[in-house]
Amino acid sequence: MSNHYVVTGSSRGIGYELVKSLANKNHLVTVVARSEEKLTSLRSLFPEQIFPITADITTEEGRNTLIGHIKEKSISLDGIVHNAGLLIKKPFEELTDDDWNRQLDVNLLAPVFLTRDLLPHMNSGSHILNIGSMGGFQGSSKFPGLSAYSVAKGALSVLTECLAAELADRNISSNCLCLGAVQTEMFEAAFPDFQAPVQPGDMGRYISEFLLDAHKLFNGRVLPVSLADPS
Ligand SMILES: NC(=O)c1ccc[n+]([C@@H]2O[C@H](COP(=O)([O-])OP(=O)(O)OC[C@H]3O[C@@H](n4cnc5c(N)ncnc54)[C@H](OP(=O)(O)O)[C@@H]3O)[C@@H](O)[C@H]2O)c1
Repeated sequence: MSNHYVVTGSSRGIGYELVKSLANKNHLVTVVARSEEKLTSLRSLFPEQIFPITADITTEEGRNTLIGHIKEKSISLDGIVHNAGLLIKKPFEELTDDDWNRQLDVNLLAPVFLTRDLLPHMNSGSHILNIGSMGGFQGSSKFPGLSAYSVAKGALSVLTECLAAELADRNISSNCLCLGAVQTEMFEAAFPDFQAPVQPGDMGRYISEFLLDAHKLFNGRVLPVSLADPS
């Protein structure tokens, strides 16, 4: 039987590969990003299973486009993956108000608002999966230039634990994977001199399996998935 998921940030990198893996397992996926062209090309791989929504999830208008689509098509969701992300790498003293706002908008507040607004459309047994980072994993090594990014991801980890407690009686689970370095555009832009040990295809496949099964075994977990930091 096919499940239906929302995956944000699916136009490239880990999200793109995650969606392909879910579609390969015959699931349906509503995919969200700002790049219409890349989403259209993703859809062309699985035209019957992938439903693209071009939207900026940091805007109310963008989020309403997604929520309107879910309502209009009467879609019952089995989960959402908050994968869209932004990494601003700057020394703490140089981070502007705007940098902090953008960092928190994409990595924390968009998952908060989308989860709240999509909850009425989630089936019992659904899995909310937050894509965190080792920088936001409690007790992990921290690296210069990543304060705003890591703070936002750390808060996403705590949100995961709060939602697990609050939604348990509705049989909706919430977990967070704190990823280490994966060779994507985000990683290349932030760490041009490093080669990540993991490719997006491998991470996308792992996340798809975790999304489908892990919530049947545990809830409210914040887990490191890392061969190497930083990111
Ligand atoms: N790569 C790593 O080493 C690493 C490590 C730890 C954690 N992570 C996390 O893994 C996730 C995926 O990262 P990645 O490396 O695959 O990044 P990426 O290649 O930069 O892809 C980011 C995705 O997010 C989308 N996105 C960004 N802002 C958006 C917005 N305002 N509205 C809608 N979509 C938006 C982008 O699409 P558009 O530009 O088309 O909107 C793109 O599809 C992120 O949450 C990241 O923080 C990555």
